[in-house]
Amino acid sequence: MNFLSLIEHKRDGGELSSEVIDELIKAYSSDSIPDYQMAAFLMAVNIRGMSTDETRALTLAMRDSGSVFQFPEDERPIVDKHSTGGVGDKVSLVLAPLLACLGYRVPMISGRGLGITGGTLDKLESIPGFSTQLSVDQIIAQVQSIGVAMGGQTAEIAPADQRLYALRDVTGTVPSIPLITASILSKKLAEGLDALVMDVKYGGAAFMRERDEARALAKTILVLAAECGVECSALLTDMNTPLGRAAGNWLEVKESVMFLEGNGPVDLEELVISCADQLPGCNAERASAELESGRPREKFTELLSAQGADLVAFETKLKLDSTAPVVREFSKRERGYLARCDARVIGEVVRDLGGGRQTKESKIHPDVGLDRILKPNEPVNGPLCRIHARSEEDADIAEERLMSAFEILDEKVGQFELISEIMR
Ligand code: URA
Repeated sequence: MNFLSLIEHKRDGGELSSEVIDELIKAYSSDSIPDYQMAAFLMAVNIRGMSTDETRALTLAMRDSGSVFQFPEDERPIVDKHSTGGVGDKVSLVLAPLLACLGYRVPMISGRGLGITGGTLDKLESIPGFSTQLSVDQIIAQVQSIGVAMGGQTAEIAPADQRLYALRDVTGTVPSIPLITASILSKKLAEGLDALVMDVKYGGAAFMRERDEARALAKTILVLAAECGVECSALLTDMNTPLGRAAGNWLEVKESVMFLEGNGPVDLEELVISCADQLPGCNAERASAELESGRPREKFTELLSAQGADLVAFETKLKLDSTAPVVREFSKRERGYLARCDARVIGEVVRDLGGGRQTKESKIHPDVGLDRILKPNEPVNGPLCRIHARSEEDADIAEERLMSAFEILDEKVGQFELISEIMR
């Protein structure tokens, strides 16, 4: 294969055959194509786009770079949920045990934080002893036994995506509809799913800034998933405001546990129940009743125990008000109603406190972040959030940056809409 002419063909707006795309992924996976040429190809795709046939071929080639889960026959459907990434988005942490309680099998493969968006794996790893490094066999065995496993991508699961994603992250080629579709669906198809619910985010802290772009991404994913035999629906959700009241790895785990114990934020509940509602055989009433039963909290403990968590250390950590060296309330002088809590600024602050990565090598500090975040339309007569930092200096910097994150007005703004559309 002459890879140079293939890059040129794509650069000039040409279409590639399935065979060529398949060969391309195989060649890249076996190190026969250098990163600089693949980066040029990705940029050509980012600019020129891909046809439906090309996107399908890329997705399947990436899926087949690893193995596809083979679950034993069982009446429990195999399902998952995937979000395109947001700030304070802890839905997976609570939805996975809820779905297991509702009688689904949930082999959830999650990612790490990227840019300002948090990652489920980083959150789970803030739990003492919890292991996210599971082999395909371990995932299958655990899902068969307790209904749920939460792990990271391994060399066995769509490894081409792992390499391509790392390259996209440093070459400005993340926000491309065919590349995002292939990245997400290659992993989801490898899980051998019956059904998938997608949370496609738009807004200031999302990859897709505009709702129309999110809709176009959702449509591409829905069409391809259906062609591949996976029942899929997509929620278009707002990511201008953080989800819930906590952002930061451990603080989000803590909020998730509070949620499972019946004390969670209402926006998180709306999204969790709406995701469950989309799955075949489920509905919002059943999901709410299951949540209220307290069983998903027990399932969460079962999941932690199955993946090596130190439950005594976990429960002790949960009881602490803060596990970061510095905790500080953040306020502004104005009084009135909160008009805006900017998820992008919040995400940047959490990342820079050490909760996210500046580079691929950055070390995550699990206990930093923000909590008790005020939500739009709430009255402002005290702190707007709390800062959990590693040092007084970090807290000072965060405080300065947070000034622009919160806008306060004399009157309430219009109703805040979290879920704007559900697509099938
Ligand atoms: N999530 C993924 O898994 N891949 C992308 O490309 C974007 C979000």
